[in-house]
Order: sequence, then structure tokens, then C-alpha cells
Amino acid sequence: MDVTRGPRLVRDVDFVVSPDGETSEATRPVVALCTCGATGRPPWCDATHKLLGD
Ligand code: FES
Repeated sequence: MDVTRGPRLVRDVDFVVSPDGETSEATRPVVALCTCGATGRPPWCDATHKLLGD
């Protein structure tokens, strides 16, 4: 099992700043950040990682 694949859950943050400086508001107490790079709505995980082959 590849433990690096899948979202990282982050708790109690107001916003996330991407490496290119774009700010995204966190509207929930716990948010899931994409770590695979395949999401259709960065920086959030949209579960696309489940479709990636190993
Ligand atoms: S980690 Fe879930 S879509 Fe990238």
C-alpha cells in the first residue's frame, strides 16, 4: 500500500495558500488537501486519487 497517496486532512484552518500564492478559504472544520496532483478542484481532494493506478 502506498501511504503517500490520498488526501491530507487538516483541522481548524481558515485558509490554505498554494505554492503559487493562491488562497483558498477553508469552509469546514476539517478539510482534505490533495497530495496526488490529479484533483479537479485544487487544493482540495475530490477523490480522483482513487482512480489512479499503482
Ligand atoms: S489526493 Fe485525492 S484527488 Fe488528489
